[in-house]
Amino acid sequence: MGCCHYHHVGEGCDNAFTVDSSRITFGRGCLAEVGDRARALGMKRVALFSDERLARLPHFQKVHQSLSAAGLDVVVYTHVHVEPTDQSFLEAARFAAETRPDGYISLGGGSVIDTCKAANLYATHPADFLAYVNAPVGEGRPVPGPLKPHIACPTTSGTGSEVTGITIFDLLSMHAKTGIASPALRPTEALIDPDCTATLPGEVVAASGLDVLSHALESYTARPYVRRPAPQRPSLRPMSQGANPWSDLGCREALRLMGLFLVRAVADAEDHEAREQMMWAATLAGIAFGNAGVHAPHGMAYAVAGLVRDFHPSGYPEGEPLVPHGMAVIVNAPAVFRYTSEVSPERHLEAAQWLGADMRGASPGDAGEVLAGKLIQIMRAVGIPNGLGGVGYGEADLAALTEGAFPQQRLLQNAPREMTRPVLTELFRQALRYW
Ligand SMILES: [Fe+2]
Repeated sequence: MGCCHYHHVGEGCDNAFTVDSSRITFGRGCLAEVGDRARALGMKRVALFSDERLARLPHFQKVHQSLSAAGLDVVVYTHVHVEPTDQSFLEAARFAAETRPDGYISLGGGSVIDTCKAANLYATHPADFLAYVNAPVGEGRPVPGPLKPHIACPTTSGTGSEVTGITIFDLLSMHAKTGIASPALRPTEALIDPDCTATLPGEVVAASGLDVLSHALESYTARPYVRRPAPQRPSLRPMSQGANPWSDLGCREALRLMGLFLVRAVADAEDHEAREQMMWAATLAGIAFGNAGVHAPHGMAYAVAGLVRDFHPSGYPEGEPLVPHGMAVIVNAPAVFRYTSEVSPERHLEAAQWLGADMRGASPGDAGEVLAGKLIQIMRAVGIPNGLGGVGYGEADLAALTEGAFPQQRLLQNAPREMTRPVLTELFRQALRYW
């Protein structure tokens, strides 16, 4: 049904799409393969990136032992900052430049995998930090060549970072999240072992699961690739190329799995089936958004996370205030999809149906309300705060949130409707409270 979107190429727009992905191994216990896979990629001296909490868990020992048993020299880096910053990236890059590994392994959530990508980038192709950072915040300079091989092993069913060429961080001087996007950053391989999620607190599964859900929804409703201006040269086609028939496949299945398993996976850590299916949904949605790109809920989330004052979510490490990424995304989502539904009501209705919404009597005119209503129901079922108000924001913050989100043009331009400053302010206003 979705393909009817792709028949008519807009004037001056792209007429083809490109499919990229990391090589993927998926299955319970597959972490033990890492040593053999690293050796097969020609690695001799590997940098193993993780964080201090994970370094005390059996998964870390398993990876370390597998690498050592394969005869590899292992140097360990665990000073990863949860929600990385430009400073923490530079520290990791210094470590990589000093230890000179010929390959990288990352074991952790998005923060660990993203830090590893950045360390690999700056140690392999040194440059001023802002050189590769997305414009207009940075120069947006293309990465000049391939990086060292990188095997990413995700331990949360969330970011999809293991299959994307994107790394996200907090630029401290601007109090804003931004990123680096290049196919060169995509890990060479992903080892996805659902056993890693067995020990995650329910709150973490909820936030990371809603990140996955939004990856799929945003990719499915993104501006179609045939409406994006054609690149100057085919090799400059962006990874955020817009919705396309390939990404649609992953979005559909990820949304269907979310509808079936998210609430179960949050409620019961012993529900191995639900947690495994969440991991598979995260993989599918990661492949989809790595080829289509997300849009406004993520663009707005960077401001929501970057401007945090005093929100301390349960289930996360104590210390600095934090709005977890998935939470920062999903609080914007109902408001955004009400707004975007006017452009492609049938896609919004399909998504609501896959998530399990009651579709009786629903017509295209109801699409935004039906999808937003289903999202709000899921948020409540898994204990997500009530909109921006629930994570500490009020009317007085709307201007700052708008200014924080507006520079995220790489994402905002991938939305199906124009995201001007006044539109963003109104969407943030509607996101203040949902129930
Ligand atoms: Fe995300």
